[in-house]
Amino acid sequence: MIEFQHVFKSYGRGRNILADINFRIEPGEFVFVSGPSGAGKSTLLKLIGGLEPPSRGAILVNGHRSDRMPARARPYLRRAIGVILQDVHLLYDRSAIQNVLLPLAVTGLAPAQAQSRARAALEKVGLSGKEDLNPIEMSGGEQQRLAIARAIVNRPSILIADEPTASLDDDSARRIMDVFRDFNRVGVTTLIASHDLALMASYARRTMRIEAGRFHDTTGAP
Ligand SMILES: Nc1ncnc2c1ncn2[C@@H]1O[C@H](COP(=O)(O)OP(=O)(O)O)[C@@H](O)[C@H]1O
Ligand SMILES: [Mg+2]
Repeated sequence: MIEFQHVFKSYGRGRNILADINFRIEPGEFVFVSGPSGAGKSTLLKLIGGLEPPSRGAILVNGHRSDRMPARARPYLRRAIGVILQDVHLLYDRSAIQNVLLPLAVTGLAPAQAQSRARAALEKVGLSGKEDLNPIEMSGGEQQRLAIARAIVNRPSILIADEPTASLDDDSARRIMDVFRDFNRVGVTTLIASHDLALMASYARRTMRIEAGRFHDTTGAP
């Protein structure tokens, strides 16, 4: 569950990027965040992921006030939410599976268990057999799927992705969307920022549109 109560966000002394945002997302929803460039889509996802604090208002994730979470509770939020940022931030001096193993390093999982979890994550995104490739040897779509594998290896209940199909051809974009749909079908709450209206039309269950400081929440495609 994700809930925003009267959330405002500005950077420094700048204007409000988001003003008085209120919504509630139930477990298992598949939500698109749409709107023109600069509208605040990335900002909204960063607030949900706890990567930016709100300027005012309350943000609840699975019943916890994420904006007031003490430092020692932060790892909880990090495990509850799988985040795929616009710039995938893969490590290019390591293999694909080593990239996926990274988030498991802090969990205290035995090495053999971590390996099998990482392999399972790669399998779920269709990258079986590519464990030992360097990300540089992978296509843009494969790198994006690798980023998804890394985001889901800790089995988060919420997955947020910022423009995950932005630089991909149609086939690769649909493949990525199918991966998200499959996770959503097994109960993972999924939020995706995108301005690809055509793609959204075939996957959207609910769309939150940000435009010129206004916020529209609709059921279905935009
Ligand atoms: N770290 C930041 N510092 C200052 N301004 C920012 C920062 N991040 C985003 N902004 C500004 O906030 C607005 C919304 O940005 P963003 O959330 O990235 O929009 P979108 O993802 O919809 O393109 C833009 O005007 C952008 O320049
Ligand atoms: Mg953005």
